[in-house]
Formats: sequence, C-alpha cells, structure tokens
Amino acid sequence: MRIAVPAETQGEEPRVAATPETVKRYKAMGAEVVVQKGAGLSSGVTDADYEAAGAITVVTPAEAIAGADIILSVRRPDAIALAGVKPGAALICIADPYGADAALADLAKTGVSAFAMEFMPRITRAQVMDVLSSQANLAGYRAVIDGAGEYGRALPMMMTAAGTVPAARIFIMGVGVAGLQAIATARRMGAIVTATDVRPATKEQVESLGAKFLAVEDDEFKQAQTAGGYAKEMSKDYQAKQAELTASHIAKQDIVITTALIPGRPAPKLISAAMVASMRQGSVIVDLAVERGGNCELSRPGEVFVTDNGVKIVGHLNVPGRIAATASALYAKNLFSYLETLVGKETKELAINWDDELVRATLLTRDGAVVHPNFLLNSSPNFLPKS
Ligand code: NAI
Repeated sequence: MRIAVPAETQGEEPRVAATPETVKRYKAMGAEVVVQKGAGLSSGVTDADYEAAGAITVVTPAEAIAGADIILSVRRPDAIALAGVKPGAALICIADPYGADAALADLAKTGVSAFAMEFMPRITRAQVMDVLSSQANLAGYRAVIDGAGEYGRALPMMMTAAGTVPAARIFIMGVGVAGLQAIATARRMGAIVTATDVRPATKEQVESLGAKFLAVEDDEFKQAQTAGGYAKEMSKDYQAKQAELTASHIAKQDIVITTALIPGRPAPKLISAAMVASMRQGSVIVDLAVERGGNCELSRPGEVFVTDNGVKIVGHLNVPGRIAATASALYAKNLFSYLETLVGKETKELAINWDDELVRATLLTRDGAVVHPNFLLNSSPNFLPKS
C-alpha cells in the first residue's frame, strides 16, 4: 500500500497532510509513504525529517501520485494535479465542494474515491477524525493572538512601580469550538472576557470558562439549537434585539472576536458599521467568519485595515494556516485516525467498507461519478433539469 503526500497546489496553503509522526505510524501499518519535496516546509517539516521517519521524498507531484493507493492532502487538488492517478485510489482532504460543481465533476472523472473530511459526522467514534474541530480550536486560539498583536496595549492588568495597566476587555461573539478556545486563551492572557451566542447550551460553557455570558434569552433563543447542535438563522426581530443588546457592550470593548456561523448560510452580520464607529480608537475586531461573508459589515477577506475612527479590522483567511505546524500536526492525526478505519487489519491494504457510516458521510466521488447525496442532482448523467 502506497500513500502519497503531494505538496499543496491550491494557492497559499501552509499546512501539510502528514507529519513525521504520522509517517512513522503509516510505516508501522506496513505502508510505503511518498512525500513531495518541500511539502512540509511551511509547517516546519523538512524533507530530511520525513526521510528520517521512513518516507521516500520525490520532486514532482506526478512522482508522488504515481501508483499511490491513497493520497493525503489538506485542500482538494485539482484534476490536473491528479493526472496519472490510479483509478480507485482514495483521496482524503478538506474538499470544500460547495459551489465547485465543475471541479467536482472533473475530480470524479479521474476515478479517485474522494473523501471530504469536513463531512465527518460529529459522533463520539469520529471525534479523533474531526478536522473542523481540530482546526477551529486553533483558529480560536490564533484569533486572540492576532487580536493581541494588533492591539497596541497589554492584555492583563499589571500593577507596576510605573503605574497600573488596566486589563483589556475582550468580547467573543459565537461560542462554538473556535469561540470556546478564544475565551480560554483570552482568559489565560488576563483579559476580562464576555461572550455571546444564540444557543442556550453555550451559557454554561462560557461561565465554566470564567467569562460572562450576554445574550437575548427569549423564547426564540431557547429554540435556537438544531438537533445537530448547530445554530439556526435567527429572525429579523431577534437580530434587532441582539444588536440593541450588544451595541452598547461592543462600544466598551478593546478587542472583539467573531466566530459566528450558520451551516449552509452566509455568516450572520453581528457588527454593523455604526457599531464599529462607536468603538474607541485603537480597538480591534478579529473576524473569523470572513470566508463565509464575515460577521462584521466592514470586514474585508484577507485584509487587515484601520477604519476612519482608528479601529483595526482583521480579516485573515485560513487562520489555522497561521499556526501551521500545530494545525498540520492535528490534521495529520485526524487523517491517520480515519485511514486506520479504511485499511484491512490483516491485509494492510485499502479495504473500504462502503456501508460504514463515516464512509457514507464523507465519500464524494467513486468510480467516475459524484456520489455524495448533497451533490447528486448536479452530477448524475440522468439528471434532466425540469423545464
Ligand atoms: P459553528 O462554527 O457552526 O458556529 C460557531 C458558533 O456561532 C456556534 O456556537 C453558533 O451557535 C454561533 N452562532 C450562530 N449564529 C449566531 C448569532 N446570530 N449570534 C451569535 N452566535 C451565533 O459551530 P461549531 O464550532 O462547529 O460547533 C457547532 C456545534 O457542534 C456545537 O454545539 C459544538 O459543541 C458541537 N460539536 C460537537 C462535537 C462532537 O460531538 N464530536 C465536536 C465539535 C463540535
């Protein structure tokens, strides 16, 4: 069994899908691991590190992919990068498939069985494979570091001979995986932390981390969590009440970190231009939702800029990639844990159980076709649009 780790091809992706630690584990599984030279450099892993762990390093992606049974990647490689791939090989990556119908169809044509790690069910058995959590947790941490870096003052209260430094006030909007880590990190750094969310379950979580919870706790709030544990899109009426409650609070904050997302919808707009205008000069907004439209009306994806009233708005893309070595280490372990379930214990060969619920949830393409139910209408050759 041959496992390939080509270098990332889609733009600037500093993470890598295997680390020397997981290479050793794959070797112990009986696999041969081929890594494209330079694939780990942005995550602090040299070719020599991979070689020392037992990997073969090669120069081109084609050499890495040739004869591979499994291809590990952070982002979905395009079909061109997969030229020469063995039909039936498994490609495991964060596939980002929505709005990419043509690319998905091309991917299917390569014959790979592509697995989208972000579709991993959030069930106990699959927690070790949950890339959304492993990466969001680090994004939450990094958002606080970025916010602290942009803020021109110290976060903790300090009583020094030269005078007292007040503690910074940090407000976290959206308390999922990223938000919880942001609260914990901001608390560790000595800030006074408040947080808000629309899911009632978050209140206790916020308080258990030593932060203060702030939310409109009406009947709609009590129903805001879906069976899957996610937030619903709130009504206009609720949004207005939420804005009224948070506006005066935001005006008093030094750093606001937003992480709010709703599955399948644009990110909710939680900070209006007027709210930004109310903030003090030197305060900072870190918007982790920029890739989904942003939680702040003024955020610009991929940019850090200062508003007319001196508020810094931070809109970095790929925030887990800003802590690439750690993000890669956790991502690589997520992949290893999944791959263990796809390989026969005795045969040490790829032995996918197509009925396994994890496989069914994550499998995007197989035998030349897009097979994931979320995309079937777009891909089936028998699909005729209604006239
Ligand atoms: P997410 O990334 O989809 O959203 C982030 C947060 O934004 C959520 O807490 C959501 O309630 C909040 N939000 C949405 N609209 C908002 C608004 N208008 N105002 C304020 N906040 C708003 O969420 P994530 O991090 O993926 O977590 C979703 C759920 O999955 C949580 O319940 C989490 O505990 C659960 N989870 C379960 C796991 C497991 O059982 N294995 C693993 C990881 C998470």
